[in-house]
Amino acid sequence: MKVVICVGSSCHLKGSHEVLVRLQELISENKVEDKVELAASFCLGQCAQGVSMIIDGKLVTNANKDTIDSIFNEQILPYAK
Ligand code: FES
Repeated sequence: MKVVICVGSSCHLKGSHEVLVRLQELISENKVEDKVELAASFCLGQCAQGVSMIIDGKLVTNANKDTIDSIFNEQILPYAK
């Protein structure tokens, strides 16, 4: 599956780098490196609700250091096949 994180300027200011680093940790802790492809994207047009991500083609907003663990556990890990 593909997970895209917005690294546009608004999302960058809202901590997209932190989200990306934490996601990399979660992916390796759960040993799904070969199942989850991480990519960065420019502005996804949802700056007001950033950090924005696209998980398997679906827009997910409000990612941050407090929400990324539950986003991963609920919306990525169960589908990482
Ligand atoms: S900068 Fe991320 S949605 Fe615009």
